[in-house]
Amino acid sequence: MKGYIQLLEYVENLPEDATSYISKAVASINKLQHLIDELLDASKIEAGKLKFDKDILNLTDLVNMCIENSNCMYQMPGIKVYGNAERLEQVLMNLINNAVKYSPENKEIIVGAKSDLNCAIVSVTDFGIGMSELDQRKIFERFYRVDGHESSTPGLGVGLYIASKIIQEHGGEISVKSKLHEGSVFSFSLPLANIEQGTRKY
Ligand SMILES: Nc1ncnc2c1ncn2[C@@H]1O[C@H](COP(=O)(O)OP(=O)(O)OP(=O)(O)O)[C@@H](O)[C@H]1O
Ligand SMILES: [Mg+2]
Repeated sequence: MKGYIQLLEYVENLPEDATSYISKAVASINKLQHLIDELLDASKIEAGKLKFDKDILNLTDLVNMCIENSNCMYQMPGIKVYGNAERLEQVLMNLINNAVKYSPENKEIIVGAKSDLNCAIVSVTDFGIGMSELDQRKIFERFYRVDGHESSTPGLGVGLYIASKIIQEHGGEISVKSKLHEGSVFSFSLPLANIEQGTRKY
């Protein structure tokens, strides 16, 4: 049945109503299929007959794939800002690289993005070596590196300086909250996009 309905999706010049009914029918069939599969699994478990092969697999890839799938399924609206994608990627990659570099013992890193009424906020949290209050006030300066980091970790001390300038240029702010030996949270804000910013006049 699903096959026939899916074939209908390829018929050209269908009225708009029909296309929407077909997508709805396909979605219902998928849900039904999922339900049946689950019931079958449940009864196999009861009968002690749920069998599957095992193999060495990459769990990180699997988790990423599930996140991608759910993003498609639930069509998250996403947070819209007005900016330069390459430059913002440069900022975020520097924060992630720093989080990895300065967390020799604990590699768990949490990256998140959220928005409130006025702005979007991206944060990178690590549970690494952290830094003192004095260093927190200086790390966005050009070539500043925390004492002792020069010898232990490669770097120029310009990543955060450049990041702060890029964020400033976007009308946002970058900041750090950190505790020595406990970890750091770097956050930057960006103004949310408004409709006029996306419209171009030719
Ligand atoms: N997550 C972090 N935890 C602890 N210290 C950090 C962290 N991120 C940055 N720092 C400190 O701030 C300094 C400045 O960071 P910045 O990214 O500007 O330079 P870098 O990583 O040393 O070199 P690069 O120019 O290659 O980015 C670092 O040298 C380090 O001392
Ligand atoms: Mg860096």
